[in-house]
Order: sequence, then C-alpha cells, then structure tokens
Amino acid sequence: MKNKSPHPKGGKLSGRLFSAEFLFCPFHDWKISLVNGVVQAPDQGSVKIYPVKVVENDLVITL
Ligand code: FES
Repeated sequence: MKNKSPHPKGGKLSGRLFSAEFLFCPFHDWKISLVNGVVQAPDQGSVKIYPVKVVENDLVITL
C-alpha cells in the first residue's frame, strides 16, 4: 500500500493501527481496505495497492 493517506492532508500510513482487513488512519480516522485500498463510507477515495506474494521465503512486491 502506498504510504500516503488519500485524505487532503495526506498523512503517512506506515506504523498505523490495522485489523485483518482494514488500516485506520489516526489523523481523521479514515478506514481503508487492505485488500483493495478503498476508503470506507462515509469517506471516499482510495490508496494504491501493490501486489505481494511469497516466493521461496522471500516477499516479492510488484511496483
Ligand atoms: S490524513 Fe489520513 S485520514 Fe486524514
């Protein structure tokens, strides 16, 4: 996931709280899907998601 909130203030997303499916940006409490990057209603927007897979004990990120 790109390390920038889609909110106009653009806070960093690294080191934030997350659950199995969502990341919670602490600045304005936007809830963002870790699966597809979509901001959950009532807020709007999305974050770019980068595909990750495990290949022989290595993480491969497609940029
Ligand atoms: S900077 Fe993330 S919700 Fe505002």
